[in-house]
Amino acid sequence: MKTRKYAHVKDSYNESPPGNNNNYSDERGDDYVLDGTPALMKNFDNVPKPFESGSTPLLELKNIAKEYVDDRGKKIVVLNGINLSINHHEYISIVGPSGGGKSTLLRIIMGLETCTTGEVLLKGEPLKGKVDPHMAMVFQSFGLFPWLTVVENVEFGLESNHIPKDERRKKSLNIIQEVGLEGFENAYPRELSGGMKQRVGIARALVLDPEVLLMDEPFSSLDPLTAEALREEILKVWSNRLTTPDVVIMVSHNVEEAVYLSDRVVVLSHRPASVVKEVHIDIPRPREKRDTSIYDYTDQITTLIA
Ligand SMILES: Nc1ncnc2c1ncn2[C@@H]1O[C@H](COP(=O)(O)OP(=O)(O)O)[C@@H](O)[C@H]1O
Ligand SMILES: [Mg+2]
Repeated sequence: MKTRKYAHVKDSYNESPPGNNNNYSDERGDDYVLDGTPALMKNFDNVPKPFESGSTPLLELKNIAKEYVDDRGKKIVVLNGINLSINHHEYISIVGPSGGGKSTLLRIIMGLETCTTGEVLLKGEPLKGKVDPHMAMVFQSFGLFPWLTVVENVEFGLESNHIPKDERRKKSLNIIQEVGLEGFENAYPRELSGGMKQRVGIARALVLDPEVLLMDEPFSSLDPLTAEALREEILKVWSNRLTTPDVVIMVSHNVEEAVYLSDRVVVLSHRPASVVKEVHIDIPRPREKRDTSIYDYTDQITTLIA
Protein backbone atom coordinates (compact mmCIF):
# COMPACT_ATOMS: atom_id res chain seq x y z
CA MET A 1 0.00 0.00 0.00
CA LYS A 2 1.20 3.45 -0.82
CA THR A 3 1.87 5.80 2.04
CA ARG A 4 1.10 9.48 2.21
CA LYS A 5 4.03 11.86 1.98
CA TYR A 6 4.22 14.39 4.78
CA ALA A 7 7.47 16.16 3.97
CA HIS A 8 5.80 19.40 2.91
CA VAL A 9 3.77 19.68 6.11
CA LYS A 10 6.30 18.19 8.49
CA ASP A 11 6.47 20.82 11.22
CA SER A 12 3.22 22.57 10.59
CA TYR A 13 1.39 21.33 13.65
CA ASN A 14 3.73 23.29 15.91
CA GLU A 15 2.66 26.55 14.39
CA SER A 16 0.01 28.65 16.07
CA PRO A 17 -3.44 28.77 14.45
CA PRO A 18 -4.20 31.72 12.21
CA GLY A 19 -6.90 32.97 14.55
CA ASN A 20 -10.37 34.19 13.85
CA ASN A 21 -9.83 35.43 10.34
CA ASN A 22 -12.89 36.47 8.33
CA ASN A 23 -11.51 34.61 5.34
CA TYR A 24 -12.64 31.43 7.01
CA SER A 25 -16.16 32.44 7.83
CA ASP A 26 -18.13 31.83 4.67
CA GLU A 27 -18.65 29.12 2.10
CA ARG A 28 -16.47 30.71 -0.51
CA GLY A 29 -13.80 31.84 1.92
CA ASP A 30 -13.12 28.39 3.24
CA ASP A 31 -11.83 27.38 -0.16
CA TYR A 32 -9.13 30.01 -0.18
CA VAL A 33 -7.37 29.40 3.06
CA LEU A 34 -3.72 29.77 4.04
CA ASP A 35 -1.79 31.62 1.32
CA GLY A 36 -4.73 31.59 -1.08
CA THR A 37 -3.98 28.13 -2.41
CA PRO A 38 -5.89 25.24 -0.88
CA ALA A 39 -3.31 23.08 0.79
CA LEU A 40 -4.24 19.97 -1.17
CA MET A 41 -3.42 21.75 -4.42
CA LYS A 42 0.22 21.74 -3.43
CA ASN A 43 0.16 17.98 -3.48
CA PHE A 44 -0.41 17.82 -7.23
CA ASP A 45 1.81 15.39 -9.02
CA ASN A 46 1.72 13.53 -12.31
CA VAL A 47 -1.61 12.34 -13.68
CA PRO A 48 -2.12 8.57 -13.51
CA LYS A 49 -2.64 6.28 -16.46
CA PRO A 50 -5.63 4.13 -15.64
CA PHE A 51 -5.04 0.99 -17.64
CA GLU A 52 -2.09 -1.26 -17.07
CA SER A 53 -2.59 -4.31 -19.20
CA GLY A 54 -1.86 -7.68 -17.74
CA SER A 55 -2.24 -6.76 -14.06
CA THR A 56 -4.97 -8.12 -11.77
CA PRO A 57 -7.78 -5.58 -11.41
CA LEU A 58 -7.67 -3.81 -8.06
CA LEU A 59 -11.31 -4.55 -7.43
CA GLU A 60 -13.79 -6.94 -8.99
CA LEU A 61 -17.51 -7.15 -8.40
CA LYS A 62 -18.80 -10.53 -9.48
CA ASN A 63 -22.49 -11.00 -10.03
CA ILE A 64 -23.51 -8.92 -7.01
CA ALA A 65 -27.15 -9.19 -6.02
CA LYS A 66 -28.89 -7.68 -3.01
CA GLU A 67 -32.36 -8.30 -1.66
CA TYR A 68 -34.08 -6.74 1.30
CA VAL A 69 -37.24 -7.87 3.02
CA ASP A 70 -39.50 -4.94 3.83
CA ASP A 71 -41.66 -4.46 6.95
CA ARG A 72 -44.50 -6.49 5.44
CA GLY A 73 -42.20 -9.36 4.59
CA LYS A 74 -42.12 -8.54 0.88
CA LYS A 75 -38.86 -9.17 -0.94
CA ILE A 76 -37.25 -6.13 -2.62
CA VAL A 77 -34.53 -6.86 -5.15
CA VAL A 78 -32.22 -3.84 -5.19
CA LEU A 79 -29.19 -5.04 -7.13
CA ASN A 80 -29.28 -7.73 -9.76
CA GLY A 81 -26.12 -9.23 -11.23
CA ILE A 82 -23.67 -6.34 -11.02
CA ASN A 83 -20.34 -7.14 -12.65
CA LEU A 84 -17.58 -4.58 -12.63
CA SER A 85 -13.82 -4.68 -12.86
CA ILE A 86 -11.82 -1.70 -11.59
CA ASN A 87 -8.20 -1.16 -12.52
CA HIS A 88 -5.42 0.50 -10.58
CA HIS A 89 -5.39 4.31 -10.85
CA GLU A 90 -8.95 4.56 -12.11
CA TYR A 91 -11.49 7.20 -11.19
CA ILE A 92 -14.91 5.58 -11.53
CA SER A 93 -18.30 7.21 -11.19
CA ILE A 94 -21.57 5.39 -10.71
CA VAL A 95 -24.70 7.14 -11.92
CA GLY A 96 -28.30 6.03 -12.17
CA PRO A 97 -31.85 6.71 -11.08
CA SER A 98 -32.58 7.69 -7.49
CA GLY A 99 -33.46 4.72 -5.29
CA GLY A 100 -31.68 2.42 -7.73
CA GLY A 101 -29.24 0.93 -5.26
CA LYS A 102 -26.11 3.05 -5.76
CA SER A 103 -25.52 3.68 -2.05
CA THR A 104 -26.23 0.03 -1.33
CA LEU A 105 -23.58 -0.96 -3.86
CA LEU A 106 -20.97 1.34 -2.28
CA ARG A 107 -21.75 -0.09 1.17
CA ILE A 108 -21.32 -3.62 -0.18
CA ILE A 109 -17.97 -2.72 -1.78
CA MET A 110 -16.73 -1.28 1.50
CA GLY A 111 -18.00 -4.25 3.50
CA LEU A 112 -20.51 -2.22 5.52
CA GLU A 113 -23.19 -4.50 4.17
CA THR A 114 -23.19 -8.04 2.77
CA CYS A 115 -24.52 -8.98 -0.65
CA THR A 116 -27.17 -11.68 -1.02
CA THR A 117 -25.19 -13.42 -3.75
CA GLY A 118 -21.94 -12.70 -5.58
CA GLU A 119 -18.59 -11.53 -4.29
CA VAL A 120 -16.25 -8.59 -4.09
CA LEU A 121 -12.57 -9.30 -4.77
CA LEU A 122 -9.75 -6.96 -3.80
CA LYS A 123 -6.57 -7.86 -5.72
CA GLY A 124 -8.10 -11.24 -6.41
CA GLU A 125 -8.92 -11.96 -2.74
CA PRO A 126 -12.56 -12.16 -1.67
CA LEU A 127 -13.65 -9.66 0.96
CA LYS A 128 -15.08 -11.56 3.85
CA GLY A 129 -18.06 -9.36 4.61
CA LYS A 130 -16.36 -7.04 7.07
CA VAL A 131 -15.29 -3.42 6.70
CA ASP A 132 -12.22 -3.41 4.54
CA PRO A 133 -9.24 -1.50 5.98
CA HIS A 134 -8.06 -0.55 2.48
CA MET A 135 -11.19 1.51 1.90
CA ALA A 136 -12.76 4.64 3.33
CA MET A 137 -16.02 6.43 2.65
CA VAL A 138 -16.98 10.08 2.28
CA PHE A 139 -20.71 10.72 2.78
CA GLN A 140 -23.03 13.35 1.33
CA SER A 141 -24.20 14.39 4.79
CA PHE A 142 -20.59 14.46 6.13
CA GLY A 143 -21.32 11.97 8.93
CA LEU A 144 -19.33 13.88 11.56
CA PHE A 145 -19.77 13.34 15.30
CA PRO A 146 -21.15 16.69 16.58
CA TRP A 147 -19.71 16.16 20.06
CA LEU A 148 -16.15 15.68 18.77
CA THR A 149 -13.80 18.42 17.55
CA VAL A 150 -12.32 18.43 14.07
CA VAL A 151 -9.16 16.65 15.15
CA GLU A 152 -11.09 14.16 17.27
CA ASN A 153 -13.37 13.39 14.32
CA VAL A 154 -10.37 12.80 12.06
CA GLU A 155 -8.59 10.68 14.67
CA PHE A 156 -11.62 8.56 15.40
CA GLY A 157 -11.14 6.03 12.60
CA LEU A 158 -7.51 5.46 13.57
CA GLU A 159 -8.38 4.28 17.06
CA SER A 160 -9.32 0.82 15.88
CA ASN A 161 -5.98 0.54 14.03
CA HIS A 162 -4.03 0.24 17.30
CA ILE A 163 -1.90 3.27 16.46
CA PRO A 164 -0.41 4.98 19.57
CA LYS A 165 -2.29 8.12 20.62
CA ASP A 166 0.43 10.67 19.86
CA GLU A 167 1.00 9.16 16.44
CA ARG A 168 -2.74 9.32 15.73
CA ARG A 169 -2.77 12.98 16.69
CA LYS A 170 0.27 13.80 14.55
CA LYS A 171 -1.12 12.03 11.51
CA SER A 172 -4.52 13.69 11.92
CA LEU A 173 -3.03 17.17 12.28
CA ASN A 174 -1.00 16.66 9.10
CA ILE A 175 -4.08 15.67 7.13
CA ILE A 176 -6.08 18.56 8.60
CA GLN A 177 -3.46 20.94 7.29
CA GLU A 178 -3.44 19.16 3.96
CA VAL A 179 -7.17 19.68 3.46
CA GLY A 180 -6.85 23.37 4.33
CA LEU A 181 -8.36 23.33 7.83
CA GLU A 182 -5.35 24.43 9.83
CA GLY A 183 -6.50 26.56 12.75
CA PHE A 184 -9.80 24.67 13.07
CA GLU A 185 -8.42 21.59 14.79
CA ASN A 186 -10.39 22.27 17.97
CA ALA A 187 -13.56 23.60 16.36
CA TYR A 188 -16.82 21.63 16.58
CA PRO A 189 -18.74 20.71 13.41
CA ARG A 190 -21.50 23.24 14.25
CA GLU A 191 -18.92 26.03 13.90
CA LEU A 192 -18.01 25.02 10.33
CA SER A 193 -19.57 25.78 6.93
CA GLY A 194 -20.77 22.89 4.74
CA GLY A 195 -17.60 22.97 2.67
CA MET A 196 -15.43 22.84 5.77
CA LYS A 197 -17.47 19.96 7.19
CA GLN A 198 -16.90 18.03 4.01
CA ARG A 199 -13.17 18.80 4.24
CA VAL A 200 -13.28 17.11 7.64
CA GLY A 201 -15.18 14.21 6.05
CA ILE A 202 -12.45 13.94 3.42
CA ALA A 203 -9.65 14.25 6.02
CA ARG A 204 -11.25 11.51 8.09
CA ALA A 205 -11.19 9.22 5.07
CA LEU A 206 -7.69 10.16 3.87
CA VAL A 207 -6.09 9.70 7.29
CA LEU A 208 -6.77 5.98 6.91
CA ASP A 209 -4.53 5.87 3.79
CA PRO A 210 -7.24 4.07 1.81
CA GLU A 211 -6.29 2.49 -1.49
CA VAL A 212 -9.91 2.83 -2.52
CA LEU A 213 -11.77 6.03 -1.67
CA LEU A 214 -15.54 5.63 -1.88
CA MET A 215 -17.64 8.77 -2.08
CA ASP A 216 -21.43 8.84 -1.95
CA GLU A 217 -22.63 12.07 -3.60
CA PRO A 218 -19.89 13.97 -1.77
CA PHE A 219 -20.49 17.36 -3.36
CA SER A 220 -24.25 17.44 -3.75
CA SER A 221 -25.08 19.25 -0.54
CA LEU A 222 -22.49 22.01 -1.14
CA ASP A 223 -22.95 25.31 -2.94
CA PRO A 224 -21.59 25.29 -6.52
CA LEU A 225 -18.33 27.17 -5.84
CA THR A 226 -17.42 25.06 -2.83
CA ALA A 227 -18.29 21.89 -4.74
CA GLU A 228 -16.09 22.96 -7.63
CA ALA A 229 -13.12 23.65 -5.36
CA LEU A 230 -13.47 20.31 -3.56
CA ARG A 231 -13.75 18.42 -6.87
CA GLU A 232 -10.42 19.89 -7.95
CA GLU A 233 -8.81 18.94 -4.67
CA ILE A 234 -10.05 15.35 -4.77
CA LEU A 235 -8.78 15.14 -8.34
CA LYS A 236 -5.36 16.28 -7.23
CA VAL A 237 -5.19 13.92 -4.28
CA TRP A 238 -6.13 11.03 -6.54
CA SER A 239 -3.75 12.20 -9.29
CA ASN A 240 -0.77 12.02 -6.98
CA ARG A 241 0.66 8.57 -7.56
CA LEU A 242 2.86 8.83 -4.48
CA THR A 243 -0.08 9.00 -2.09
CA THR A 244 -3.29 7.10 -1.50
CA PRO A 245 -5.98 6.75 -2.74
CA ASP A 246 -5.17 4.77 -5.85
CA VAL A 247 -8.78 4.43 -6.94
CA VAL A 248 -11.83 6.62 -6.40
CA ILE A 249 -15.36 5.24 -6.75
CA MET A 250 -17.88 8.04 -6.61
CA VAL A 251 -21.66 7.91 -6.71
CA SER A 252 -23.08 11.04 -8.28
CA HIS A 253 -26.37 12.31 -9.62
CA ASN A 254 -24.53 15.09 -11.42
CA VAL A 255 -23.62 13.55 -14.78
CA GLU A 256 -21.43 16.45 -15.88
CA GLU A 257 -19.42 16.20 -12.65
CA ALA A 258 -19.06 12.44 -13.20
CA VAL A 259 -17.81 12.95 -16.77
CA TYR A 260 -15.37 15.70 -15.82
CA LEU A 261 -13.79 13.67 -13.03
CA SER A 262 -13.89 10.09 -14.27
CA ASP A 263 -12.04 7.65 -16.45
CA ARG A 264 -15.20 5.60 -16.65
CA VAL A 265 -18.84 6.27 -15.84
CA VAL A 266 -20.90 3.22 -14.91
CA VAL A 267 -24.60 3.70 -15.66
CA LEU A 268 -27.01 1.67 -13.54
CA SER A 269 -30.62 0.89 -14.44
CA HIS A 270 -33.75 1.38 -12.35
CA ARG A 271 -34.22 -1.04 -9.47
CA PRO A 272 -33.31 -3.85 -9.53
CA ALA A 273 -30.11 -2.23 -10.73
CA SER A 274 -27.83 -3.78 -13.28
CA VAL A 275 -25.11 -2.15 -15.38
CA VAL A 276 -26.70 -0.52 -18.44
CA LYS A 277 -23.41 0.70 -19.87
CA GLU A 278 -19.85 1.57 -18.96
CA VAL A 279 -18.80 4.75 -20.74
CA HIS A 280 -15.04 5.33 -21.04
CA ILE A 281 -14.35 9.05 -20.88
CA ASP A 282 -11.68 9.46 -23.46
CA ILE A 283 -10.62 13.05 -22.72
CA PRO A 284 -6.94 13.69 -21.89
CA ARG A 285 -6.05 15.09 -18.47
CA PRO A 286 -5.78 17.71 -17.19
CA ARG A 287 -9.24 18.47 -18.54
CA GLU A 288 -10.77 21.74 -19.49
CA LYS A 289 -14.16 22.18 -17.82
CA ARG A 290 -15.65 23.74 -20.94
CA ASP A 291 -14.34 21.05 -23.29
CA THR A 292 -17.24 20.33 -25.65
CA SER A 293 -16.58 16.57 -25.36
CA ILE A 294 -17.69 16.83 -21.72
CA TYR A 295 -21.09 18.03 -22.89
CA ASP A 296 -21.28 15.30 -25.52
CA TYR A 297 -20.56 12.56 -22.97
CA THR A 298 -22.98 14.19 -20.52
CA ASP A 299 -25.78 14.14 -23.13
CA GLN A 300 -25.04 10.54 -24.06
CA ILE A 301 -25.12 9.36 -20.43
CA THR A 302 -28.16 11.43 -19.47
CA THR A 303 -30.10 9.78 -22.28
CA LEU A 304 -29.14 6.37 -20.89
CA ILE A 305 -30.46 7.23 -17.42
CA ALA A 306 -33.77 8.76 -18.55
N1 LIG B 1 -31.70 -1.51 5.00
C1 LIG B 1 -32.64 -1.52 4.05
N2 LIG B 1 -33.79 -2.23 4.20
C2 LIG B 1 -34.74 -2.25 3.23
N3 LIG B 1 -34.63 -1.59 2.06
C3 LIG B 1 -33.52 -0.87 1.86
C4 LIG B 1 -32.46 -0.79 2.83
N4 LIG B 1 -31.47 0.01 2.32
C5 LIG B 1 -31.91 0.41 1.10
N5 LIG B 1 -33.12 -0.12 0.83
C6 LIG B 1 -33.88 0.09 -0.40
O1 LIG B 1 -33.01 -0.13 -1.48
C7 LIG B 1 -33.29 0.75 -2.55
C8 LIG B 1 -32.02 1.38 -3.02
O2 LIG B 1 -31.53 2.29 -2.03
P1 LIG B 1 -30.18 3.11 -2.23
O3 LIG B 1 -29.05 2.16 -2.36
O4 LIG B 1 -30.13 4.08 -1.11
O5 LIG B 1 -30.44 3.84 -3.63
P2 LIG B 1 -29.70 5.10 -4.28
O6 LIG B 1 -28.46 5.37 -3.51
O7 LIG B 1 -29.44 4.68 -5.70
O8 LIG B 1 -30.67 6.24 -4.24
C9 LIG B 1 -34.32 1.74 -2.02
O9 LIG B 1 -35.56 1.39 -2.58
C10 LIG B 1 -34.32 1.53 -0.55
O10 LIG B 1 -35.60 1.72 -0.03
MG1 LIG C 1 -27.87 7.02 -2.45
